[in-house]
Amino acid sequence: MTALKNDRFLRALLKQPVDVTPVWMMRQAGRYLPEYRASRAKAGDFMSLCMNPQFACEVTMQPLDRYPQLDAAILFSDILTIPDAMGQGLYFETGEGPRFKKVISTLADIEALPIPDPQKDLGYVMDAVSTIRRELNGRVPLIGFSGSPWTLATYMVEGGSSKDFRKTKAMLYDNPQAMHLLLDKLAQSVTSYLNGQILAGAQAVQIFDTWGGNLSAAAYQEFSLAYMRKIVSGLIREHEGRKVPVILFTKNGGLWLESIADAGADALGLDWTCDIGNARERVGHKVALQGNMDPTVLYAKPEAIRAEVGRILASYGSGSGHVFNLGHGITPEVDPEHAGAFLRAVHELSAQYHV
Ligand code: CP3
Repeated sequence: MTALKNDRFLRALLKQPVDVTPVWMMRQAGRYLPEYRASRAKAGDFMSLCMNPQFACEVTMQPLDRYPQLDAAILFSDILTIPDAMGQGLYFETGEGPRFKKVISTLADIEALPIPDPQKDLGYVMDAVSTIRRELNGRVPLIGFSGSPWTLATYMVEGGSSKDFRKTKAMLYDNPQAMHLLLDKLAQSVTSYLNGQILAGAQAVQIFDTWGGNLSAAAYQEFSLAYMRKIVSGLIREHEGRKVPVILFTKNGGLWLESIADAGADALGLDWTCDIGNARERVGHKVALQGNMDPTVLYAKPEAIRAEVGRILASYGSGSGHVFNLGHGITPEVDPEHAGAFLRAVHELSAQYHV
């Protein structure tokens, strides 16, 4: 394996010294980039990009080629590959987001769900990881990812995106045992899926708990965090002679950072609703922090973006343990020039905090 030429992302996740604060953007390969839209048109649709390792590799590399400041690559795929591999039949309706042909609604549906084998059932993802690693050739580390069990369950039970998670929450409160069986099967699936990605070459992994923050405090502990803790305890933590850091990102989880920091991960992802300096005081002795600029700041002018980057860096303060990111994914309407201004500002303004 080629040695990493730029490892400041991995170093910051382990709170080792860095020269500048590393940065990447959630959804960095996506519709705001004209080159991404061209690749998607060539492939036909979004899932064809994900399922063809050459296409997945091509779009993963696009933001890196455009922005030399990016300190990490993220596998181009989707969190819904797991429910698809469980037999639900994922498809995307243009402009309407993800949909499933088969929706999960009863205990019998859950009992019938298989645990996907990463090689046999999700081999296209494993192939994408190894193809991207080869293409990166040590340029920056590659991040693998999965959805959290709770977040995956919401899509599986609702049949797609939802505003209020009516069906999923009704199942949680009416039939907690059925929900626990579903979450347990998902935790097993996610653990072997992420371990498969690590063995194929992912150098860090992130668990996206996009909808955990929509639960009550008690339900979050029991139905989301408990399963992420279980996954973290089953992950391969060292590979190719290096630590493989784990990042947990619960969107809207700011109230529960102390308990999330106890789940065994190396780093927590923060959305923009919390102050990163305050988060550091609360949990910075246990974990590194990733985040947390409001992605809509990218609609403002480059000077305003730069000022907001400066404010977040100052709030975190001196020393390692911070990976700069947006607090959620970059949106399709963002001007790519503004994303560039954001990335440059992070490196330019952060050197002073690493002397
Ligand atoms: O960060 C990256 O660049 C890696 C790629 C990535 C995608 N999805 C590509 C994608 C990652 C990490 C995801 C994760 C994902 N997928 C999450 C968790 C992160 C989050 O945003 O909270 C969720 C909830 C999904 C499910 C999903 N996939 C939805 C709800 C949608 C439709 C909404 C939308 O933005 O259109 C997708 C589609 C999707 N996944 C796109 C991309 C680039 C857009 C599809 C397209 O090109 O039309």
